[in-house]
Amino acid sequence: MSFIVGIDGPAGSGKGTVTKAISNKLGLINIDTGSTYRCVALETLNRGISIEDKEAIIKVANEIDIKIETKEDGDRIYLNGKDVTKEIRSKEVTKIVSPVSSIVEVRLRMVDVQRKLAEGKDIIMEGRDICTYVFPNADVKIYLDASLEERARRRFEENQEKGIDMSYDEVLENIEKRDYNDKHKEIGSLTLAPDSIIVDTTNLRIEEVVEKIIGIIKEKRK
Ligand code: DC
Repeated sequence: MSFIVGIDGPAGSGKGTVTKAISNKLGLINIDTGSTYRCVALETLNRGISIEDKEAIIKVANEIDIKIETKEDGDRIYLNGKDVTKEIRSKEVTKIVSPVSSIVEVRLRMVDVQRKLAEGKDIIMEGRDICTYVFPNADVKIYLDASLEERARRRFEENQEKGIDMSYDEVLENIEKRDYNDKHKEIGSLTLAPDSIIVDTTNLRIEEVVEKIIGIIKEKRK
């Protein structure tokens, strides 16, 4: 029997950082579902496929092999045996991953992959549709949120640290667009499961969010 913690939420809500910290503290396997869609996007680019060619992208999704390794110094993602942890975060991949992840057949296949990655393990899985679609019976369901302005501020600061030149207004507009896309997918859109616990991170520090969720998990595990 496995134990499953699902963490959903919009871009900039802190999912990645919080999930990683909880995974380290509680020894849960961390599965970042966004990275599976990023692998499909990367392989699409590697094969020189146009973003308009849905059939070819679906073929990519059906053919690729994805493995995730949880490590304390950072998780590793393998695409067909090659470590692509860094590559899947490139600007080029980020640009096409949203339309790639909107293709229904790609989603169906990736959900299958995500469920297999979790099989028989104690995991914490982050994404947009974990508590509603991938694991509707997850043991702990969390919906992380924060105001649009705060999420844009966090992403803006992250970009500045990485040397990515984008104004605050551009970042805000970008996040608004991603929110819209995430909430309007044919299947697996970002929605609140009726039994998810909402954690609003707008005025909380990362450590406070982590402690709060660990408290919820420990209570459930008793
Ligand atoms: O979290 P991220 O930025 O790495 O996600 C990459 C893309 O995949 C993003 O456009 C949202 C999408 N995604 C999704 O549709 N469903 C998920 N469970 C996770 C990510």
